[in-house]
Amino acid sequence: MDLGIKGRVAIVTGGGRGIGRETAREFLQAGVNVMTCSRTKDEVENTCAELAKLTGGKIKCIVADTTKPADIQRLVDETVKAFGTVDILVNNAGTMYSGRFEEMTDEGLQKQLDTKLFGFLRAIRIVAPIMREKKWGRIVSMIGGAGKEPDPYMFGSAITNSALLNMTKSLSTEFGPDNVLVNAVCPGWVGTALWRQHAKGLQKELGVDNEDEARRLATKKNALGRFGKPEELANAIAFLCSERASYITGVSLNLDGGRLKGLW
Ligand SMILES: NC(=O)c1ccc[n+]([C@@H]2O[C@H](COP(=O)([O-])OP(=O)(O)OC[C@H]3O[C@@H](n4cnc5c(N)ncnc54)[C@H](OP(=O)(O)O)[C@@H]3O)[C@@H](O)[C@H]2O)c1
Repeated sequence: MDLGIKGRVAIVTGGGRGIGRETAREFLQAGVNVMTCSRTKDEVENTCAELAKLTGGKIKCIVADTTKPADIQRLVDETVKAFGTVDILVNNAGTMYSGRFEEMTDEGLQKQLDTKLFGFLRAIRIVAPIMREKKWGRIVSMIGGAGKEPDPYMFGSAITNSALLNMTKSLSTEFGPDNVLVNAVCPGWVGTALWRQHAKGLQKELGVDNEDEARRLATKKNALGRFGKPEELANAIAFLCSERASYITGVSLNLDGGRLKGLW
């Protein structure tokens, strides 16, 4: 399917690996020019070089930490300098803050809020005027299922995610008249480095002593009974950012293999 976004310009935050990397690849294959960033210079530069070679597309990257307002501004400035504008923003750079309420610290929660809530919000604040002016824009934020269905083990992530869902719906109403579509993706468990970082904690939470068993139990609730692959997330993100999704806004799409059982 032709996504109808050839020649558009996308920022994908956190494209060094995982879901962000695969999203950048999808865009490049659709003819979109891509700017990405992460905090790890070698990884993000290697990824950019690999993707450029693989797809023949135009991709640039910078080292930036999205918890820092000046870095987000620099990311947008460099995008405009390289490609002339911004049409698409994928707010992806992020982490999980797992653990129950009694383990949560103010510092840990603040870090999660700085990365996901403020990081996402600040990027939107800078790109929205550019998109609104041209009457075309796509914003997709990577959130997470615990924002919809509270999970005591994901307490810190979940309360951050609920705020992001509210932000998505609210901004979809505000930006709709200017044809800037604001949507979200709620992944379940996806097999990336992020999951591996949390595997030990999840083993403890589930009372099992090996990663395979934790993985099996974690996906037991999924209708599809398995982890998601980063490329499966990227397919849906690229679609939401495409011309084909021109009547979709304010949606938070569960990409979780049927994990959440609620009706929204
Ligand atoms: N994997 C899952 O099961 C899952 C579930 C729910 C939601 N999500 C969300 O999906 C998104 C992508 O996750 P993933 O699984 O692909 O994770 P990942 O494999 O760890 O990749 C995350 C990417 O974001 C970058 N990043 C993280 N913090 C950053 C910061 N402050 N500034 C700039 N770049 C930053 C990382 O690079 P550096 O660390 O080098 O900066 C990396 O390139 C995240 O927002 C995550 O919360 C994932």
